[in-house]
Amino acid sequence: MCGIVGYIGKRDVAPLLLEGLQRLEYRGYDSAGIVVTSPKAAGLKMVKAKGRVRDLEAKVPARFKGTTGIAHTRWATHGAPSDLNAHPHMSADDKVAVVHNGIIDNAADLRRKLEADGVEFLSETDTEVLVHLIARSEAQKLEDKVRETLRLIEGTYGIAVMHADFPERIVVARNGSPVVLGIGEKEMFVASDIAALVAHTRQIVTLDDGEMATLKADDFRTYTTEGTRTTAEPTTVEWEAASYDMGGHDTYMHKEIHEQAEAVDRVLRGRIDDRFSTVHLGGLNLDARDARAVRRVKILGCGTSYHAGQIGAQMIEELARIPADAEPASEFRYRNAVVDPDTLYIAVSQSGETYDVLAAVQELKRKGARVLGIVNVVGSAIAREADGGMYVHAGPEVCVVSTKCFTNTCVAFALLALHLGRTRDLSVRDGKRIIEGLRKLPQQISEMLEREEDIKKLAAQYADARSMLFIGRVRGYPVAREASLKLKEVSYIHAEAYPASELKHGPLALIEPALPTVAIVPDDDLLEKNRAAMEEIKARSGQILAVAHQEQEKADHTIVVPKNEDELDPILMGIPLQLLAYHTALSLGRDIDKPRNLAKSVTVE
Ligand code: G6P
Repeated sequence: MCGIVGYIGKRDVAPLLLEGLQRLEYRGYDSAGIVVTSPKAAGLKMVKAKGRVRDLEAKVPARFKGTTGIAHTRWATHGAPSDLNAHPHMSADDKVAVVHNGIIDNAADLRRKLEADGVEFLSETDTEVLVHLIARSEAQKLEDKVRETLRLIEGTYGIAVMHADFPERIVVARNGSPVVLGIGEKEMFVASDIAALVAHTRQIVTLDDGEMATLKADDFRTYTTEGTRTTAEPTTVEWEAASYDMGGHDTYMHKEIHEQAEAVDRVLRGRIDDRFSTVHLGGLNLDARDARAVRRVKILGCGTSYHAGQIGAQMIEELARIPADAEPASEFRYRNAVVDPDTLYIAVSQSGETYDVLAAVQELKRKGARVLGIVNVVGSAIAREADGGMYVHAGPEVCVVSTKCFTNTCVAFALLALHLGRTRDLSVRDGKRIIEGLRKLPQQISEMLEREEDIKKLAAQYADARSMLFIGRVRGYPVAREASLKLKEVSYIHAEAYPASELKHGPLALIEPALPTVAIVPDDDLLEKNRAAMEEIKARSGQILAVAHQEQEKADHTIVVPKNEDELDPILMGIPLQLLAYHTALSLGRDIDKPRNLAKSVTVE
């Protein structure tokens, strides 16, 4: 969703900010804008454009010089995508410019009051109230003007503010929407996402909610919205700028699918304990006694992370014999759920920023629950809010739809399930068996990916379908759900996932030659049941593509997946279906990395 980038230093700021915005494109947006100034310039200069960053770049005049600037990619919430609604927003006297991520809940109220006072609004955005309030503040310092304004605001924000009278500083603030400072040599950066910073510096400071900062070229300071100084030690980020490049692939999705063997290797690295046939997960902050006291596990996430949670719940029940289930965080937070002190809550999020997940975590903590985070982005809001957790170490994921993070999250759940299991009744022998299975995964993923050409041919055959059904049973069902989500996200083909066991309670009515079914058919104790489901479909002339451990007679086509341990099979079975979604979307000419209407991180409700 919306992205912020800002710079203050000696360099020509516009090209730097435009490049920063490009790094944020993956988050999803519909318009962009930039404002610049310098100590010598007379006032602020601004350009905004609906559309892509390249449309903005085309509008930036040759003489658009400055050494201080802020820029933004906007994802419309209040008001349609347009030049006027794009950020930055500027005050009537052209002195104050603001970029904002988040939503101001009392904007309508504030707007009414300002309009009654004669203020003219140029845009339909909630953000514009900030600009007018800052411009009208009589405080002397920019920091105080911003602080006074924030006192009037209800809602979430990550903001960066510039003022023509203070060209040598940028003031930023955070409440519920990420703000990260990048510390350079005689230059400072700010962004809503480290993706925009790592090409320039890997020294970062992440602001907390309720924190503000002043950036000057050679200095920064952080303080609370009340004005109390806070300490901010820069940390070094591991991700390199090169990890954000396409690396010879045509799309990020393709690149990220192909990075999975390496990514899985990373999530396993340093965690396996062969001596006790278990794993070390120091970050959980859960000792053996705590682990044994857990009576239930509740997993919360959105989208693909929710599906990874469903696979995780299954693994925890199987390996640790603790009742476990997953629920969309977006639902959980609104249903006044019963929060039980003996339940271990796990929040799953690639970005660590998804607002519904973060709000669920905050609600849980408020009620005294213990919450773990399974997160990819180090230092992200959910990781910081949780009592402990695991990083999935997938590396940056740029494509809007998640692939390698999904796989790594499932592997992280396998590690957690093994850990919980081995503090309980999972035998040493079973612990060993799972560890051996985990170690085989990277190689098996590579083998799977080598079959891409075959999957591409299959995708071409199914790309004409108007709708597809995905079925699976028990371990296979969350795989079917994730595969159906992947297909609809990138190809826009309608897809629906159903438990194979429920076929005859409804979806069988849909079966006809024009509705292909993808059946997840692992070679486990439910194999015969799954074969029977395929038989029922075949008897009604439905086409079947099976994902199985051996050729399936009843299927029109089978994608054969390497066999691992039964409990770990779902991890591998998801991979060919990512490729199927990818090649279907490619053959339909879709915008694979940025599907329409979707954003990589959904930081608003
Ligand atoms: C958005 C993305 C999905 C993602 C979901 C949860 O909807 O488009 O790909 O699965 O958010 O994101 P998270 O970062 O919390 O895993």
